[in-house]
Amino acid sequence: VSRGSGLWRRVFGTARPVEIEIGPGRGDVLLAFARARPDTNFFAVEHAAGAAEAIAAAAARHRLGNVRVVAGDARCIVERLVPPASVTAIHVYFPDPWPKTRHRHRRLFDGPDFARAIARALAPGGAVHVASDLPDLFRAMWNRFTAAGLTPRGTAPPPRPVSKFERKYARAGAHAASFIKLATARRRDRVSPGPAPRARRTPRSR
Ligand SMILES: C[S@@+](CC[C@H](N)C(=O)[O-])C[C@H]1O[C@@H](n2cnc3c(N)ncnc32)[C@H](O)[C@@H]1O
Repeated sequence: VSRGSGLWRRVFGTARPVEIEIGPGRGDVLLAFARARPDTNFFAVEHAAGAAEAIAAAAARHRLGNVRVVAGDARCIVERLVPPASVTAIHVYFPDPWPKTRHRHRRLFDGPDFARAIARALAPGGAVHVASDLPDLFRAMWNRFTAAGLTPRGTAPPPRPVSKFERKYARAGAHAASFIKLATARRRDRVSPGPAPRARRTPRSR
């Protein structure tokens, strides 16, 4: 978390580890995490400006100095503004599925770019935590992350409060709760030091 820590220090005014939540919705998870872990800074990107403003207001009301929320498209912000290897975790819980074909361009994991941007933003050892009630969407995310070089960690995401969205999805059908998939993928640490440098030739003495 060395490169890019200057930017986060300017954003938060402190040099704590940074975690990002993509699409926090009402902010249930974000605010609970921020309250429980004051030694970590939480940066959220929410597409709906009204929702982003409401979360920021709630964070201010609860005096959570470790929360920042921006309104915007997470694909653009993570790809272009988040420095490489600068965050320790990224949370993606119940991203919008955008089922209509004409909204396809809004799907976060329709192509490989967003998963690659997430992998790039993570510091070595950092994790992306995902959850979805939709098996197809979940599989798509999983495939994108592994293709982007993240490996499944085999453990569930950290415990978090059940958000209103999550409750709604769990109620949506008789077996809805069993459709909720949880996974954590972790960026591979670089182990290969690369080829040893070739010895420089010394000029022959005459
Ligand atoms: C179904 S809600 C889930 C909210 C929350 N993660 C939860 O589990 O309760 C999906 C959220 O993602 C946001 N979202 C969708 N596309 C986004 C994007 N490209 N960038 C940022 N947020 C996005 C939506 O505005 C919405 O608030």
